[in-house]
Amino acid sequence: MAVRRLYPEQPLSFAFTPENLAWAKREIAKYPAGKEASAVIALLWRAQEQEGWTTEPAIRAIADMLGMAYIRVLEIATFYTMFQLAPVGRKAHLQVCGTTPCMLRGSEALIDMCKEHIAEHQHELSQDGDFSWEEVECLGCCANAPVVQIGKDTYEDLDPELFAKMLRDLRAGKPLKPGSQTGRQTSCPAGGPTTLLDEPKRGTEKV
Ligand code: FES
Repeated sequence: MAVRRLYPEQPLSFAFTPENLAWAKREIAKYPAGKEASAVIALLWRAQEQEGWTTEPAIRAIADMLGMAYIRVLEIATFYTMFQLAPVGRKAHLQVCGTTPCMLRGSEALIDMCKEHIAEHQHELSQDGDFSWEEVECLGCCANAPVVQIGKDTYEDLDPELFAKMLRDLRAGKPLKPGSQTGRQTSCPAGGPTTLLDEPKRGTEKV
């Protein structure tokens, strides 16, 4: 994974909207006195949802709210790829898993498609500003490789054809269905379940 650094051009300041500030205070109040730092991931995520990406002023503001050193919050924001350290596409930022199981199942072809259809380089905006992409490490859905994450959702069991459709739907503003794109249930075998196929015995059915 590439070194993650703060974007060179930063806004001058950050402030939560009144609604988000009220939400942040409730979030902090969930933790005992002295443990407010436990809310750091939630607050960073909310700041990113508000601003579109994680800015340096937001990192400083959240550190101040939680009584944390700036470097501690910076460490968290730069460690987790869920935090975008640069502006991202207006419609979607695609995170393509490039770790071994996804690579063996074809993620390199998906990355080539990102280069062709979005932008040549990671973290670069598409010409219309609607999309951006990056390669990330394991997204925790290896059994359904290859996987692409957008925001909070993962799109699994992709191949070039399914991924091309996904890109077309995103451009057209159509809603996407998270999870397996081949329709298999969670991570059951690609051809359907192979065990526990019997009907439940009489009297053991769930009520
Ligand atoms: S290796 Fe891609 S989700 Fe785990």
